[in-house]
Amino acid sequence: MKLLRSAGVVFVFILAFQFVNIHYYGGDIFSLSSRDEFPVSIHGNTESIRPLSGPVRVNVSSWRSAEGERAGLEEDYVTGSDTNVSVQSHDDSFVETRSSLNGSDADTVNENNRNVENALDSLVETRSSLNGSYVDIVEDAEIVNENNRNVETLESKSDDNLSPEVKRVMNVSNSGVVSISEMMSLLHQSRTTHVSLKMKRPSAVDQELLYARTQIENSPKVENGPLLHGPLYWNLSVFKRSYELMESKLKVYVYREGKRPVFHKPVLKGIYASEGWFMRQLKASKTFVTKNPRKSHLFYLPFSSKMLEESLYVPGSHSDKNLVKFLKNYLDMISSKYHFWNKTGGSDHFLVACHDWAPSETRQYMSNSIRALCNSDVSEGFVFGKDVALPETTILVPRRPLRALGGKPTSQRHILAFFAGGMHGYLRPLLLQTWGGNRDPDMKIFSEIPKSKGKNKSYMEFMKSSKYCICPKGHEVNSPRVVEALFYECVPVIISDNFVPPFFEVINWESFAVFVLEKDIPDLKNILLSISEERYREMQMRVKMVQKHFLWHSKPERFDIFHMILHSIWYNRVFQT
Ligand SMILES: *[C@@H]1O[C@H](CO)[C@@H](O)[C@H](O)[C@H]1NC(C)=O
Ligand SMILES: *[C@@H]1O[C@H](CO)[C@@H](O)[C@H](O)[C@H]1NC(C)=O
Ligand SMILES: *[C@@H]1O[C@H](CO)[C@@H](O)[C@H](O)[C@H]1NC(C)=O
Ligand SMILES: *[C@@H]1O[C@H](CO)[C@@H](O)[C@H](O)[C@H]1NC(C)=O
Ligand SMILES: *[C@@H]1O[C@H](CO)[C@@H](O)[C@H](O)[C@H]1NC(C)=O
Ligand SMILES: *[C@@H]1O[C@H](CO)[C@@H](O)[C@H](O)[C@H]1NC(C)=O
Ligand SMILES: *[C@@H]1O[C@H](CO)[C@@H](O)[C@H](O)[C@H]1NC(C)=O
Ligand SMILES: *[C@@H]1O[C@H](CO)[C@@H](O)[C@H](O)[C@H]1NC(C)=O
Repeated sequence: MKLLRSAGVVFVFILAFQFVNIHYYGGDIFSLSSRDEFPVSIHGNTESIRPLSGPVRVNVSSWRSAEGERAGLEEDYVTGSDTNVSVQSHDDSFVETRSSLNGSDADTVNENNRNVENALDSLVETRSSLNGSYVDIVEDAEIVNENNRNVETLESKSDDNLSPEVKRVMNVSNSGVVSISEMMSLLHQSRTTHVSLKMKRPSAVDQELLYARTQIENSPKVENGPLLHGPLYWNLSVFKRSYELMESKLKVYVYREGKRPVFHKPVLKGIYASEGWFMRQLKASKTFVTKNPRKSHLFYLPFSSKMLEESLYVPGSHSDKNLVKFLKNYLDMISSKYHFWNKTGGSDHFLVACHDWAPSETRQYMSNSIRALCNSDVSEGFVFGKDVALPETTILVPRRPLRALGGKPTSQRHILAFFAGGMHGYLRPLLLQTWGGNRDPDMKIFSEIPKSKGKNKSYMEFMKSSKYCICPKGHEVNSPRVVEALFYECVPVIISDNFVPPFFEVINWESFAVFVLEKDIPDLKNILLSISEERYREMQMRVKMVQKHFLWHSKPERFDIFHMILHSIWYNRVFQT
């Protein structure tokens, strides 16, 4: 009985925390939408796009002596006393947060105390301000989220930003748009043009990377697998071998430097959650993280582009200068304290950043580093073979990342095409003008989901019962809809010229998604109708099979989104050598 009662208490507590989450989430989006007016000036014009040269290579002559390396290590071990990496987020249970309060890092303790206090404060607030069942509230949050997606920047860009290297590979017939197959050519070109450095004194790490590269290039033939459906991948043999080598070899060093909240504070909710989930899961990984930087193949710069914006952007300033400066100061500190940055010019360092401004924030001082970006735009200087396309995922309830996963079978998907969302950028108004207002009953294209007497479908229900989910670009090329479509098992239709889709280097997106050029919006319906029922069913089946690569789990699982992001970074690193 006593046991039962305490179980009940725990249950109530968990339930209460779910409310807190939602409450926080609500706060989050409103503050987001109010600071959304980002400058036209930042992106557009000032900087020319970096040429497609490969990353800066290891400069052997500038390597420091073994003595220097040892000195660096000792320094590191001094700061490395926090054996229990504390969990920062208030999404964790009270108990979890409490037990991590023992960190030796005073900062951590304070941070955790604050989180607990905040959570408790809001708990009281939330209780009095929210009515209705848990499910109702979650549904509301989803709709609010959908209607407040004002997070993309205001900007009009022209495709003339493409670098000459990209243009050369591009097929002129596509009028300035890089197709998926051209992206693959650019990727391969980045490897063949790079003259591999003859290393006089290759380190153990270099040798491991060279070994991995040789192994991948000579991978045993695999056409299908129990978990891996062959047609989804460009070359399953290559992917499988590379993935296995990552699992067995890859070591990442995570810098401990950097103050919260910009560093070391993963944000697990909202549409930028992928950078936070990645940060949290990597830092917690016993498999991939090493404390010995001399054993690491990669160095992670653990900052959050969302927190950078939230804590430093001056609303109305229309400038990210201070954000860039902040990151530069961090790099100056890192590169004077350790020799690792200088050794490679940062090319074995990486960052994972989902905010729309991240390309602009990092292009100046982190141009050599591997940048995993949600805003993966060829015309904003995405470098093939170096940069990584990071999936943008919406997380409403961090405790339940798989909530409402799945959708109806093909036979019950009666809506041809669906889109609902804010009129960001130039493209969506065009889409709405052409297909909105219920002028064609097959095309459900809305800015807001209409309310009617009797049957109100939610955003989620539309996604679950449509054949095709339209994913037009907003202010930027990326949109969380692409992954949402896969989540609800709807075939994505991507209308976003020069968007580099996540994991494009291993996954063949054209096998399960439809790419429509922006200029072809007037033909959208014809294009969809021209796809045979058989082809549609095949694509939808593949959507279900590729889905696992886009799912977050509380504890990472093989081939999930965490491992796929890490794999993309690893893959580029291996082919640098
Ligand atoms: C390599 O490093 C040395 C010593 O720091 C420097 O003199 C040389 O210019 C560098 N080479 C390149 C290609 O950066
Ligand atoms: C770290 O955590 C383990 C178990 O989670 C615990 O036994 C140990 O005492 C902790 N160490 C410190 C320094 O808090
Ligand atoms: C916290 O640390 C102190 C001293 O370092 C230790 O005595 C205590 O047992 C620790 N508490 C927990 C919960 O690990
Ligand atoms: C909750 O219910 C009370 C009384 O039933 C009502 O006055 C209040 O407006 C409701 N709050 C919300 C957020 O619906
Ligand atoms: C463009 O594509 C056509 C056919 O799709 C091909 O024959 C031609 O060689 C391509 N041009 C370039 C420059 O790649
Ligand atoms: C996949 O890559 C391997 C190794 O480069 C190569 O031998 C094989 O022919 C490729 N398979 C396909 C189907 O392209
Ligand atoms: C790395 O280079 C910067 C700038 O050239 C310099 O200030 C710094 O001292 C160097 N770091 C180390 C560890 O030598
Ligand atoms: C649908 O929305 C309209 C307008 O908000 C409302 O009047 C109606 O009751 C709703 N219907 C259902 C079944 O929820």
